[in-house]
Amino acid sequence: MYICVCNALTENCVRSALSESGPDVVGVFGKHGTKPKCGKCLSHLRDFMHRINQDQTTAEAGKTA
Ligand code: FES
Repeated sequence: MYICVCNALTENCVRSALSESGPDVVGVFGKHGTKPKCGKCLSHLRDFMHRINQDQTTAEAGKTA
């Protein structure tokens, strides 16, 4: 599923960028050699990144429990 239509960034693109560049919106675009254009995706991108971070935190907490 596309997160950013202007730059053809999919959920998988975002996941791979996060694993390499950390939780940073600019880093996600930069990893793919792009930058925001219309900006309509930014709130959805931030929400998606937040969900990924929550999932990782929950998974890590489950490992230590
Ligand atoms: S949809 Fe991402 S910049 Fe336009």
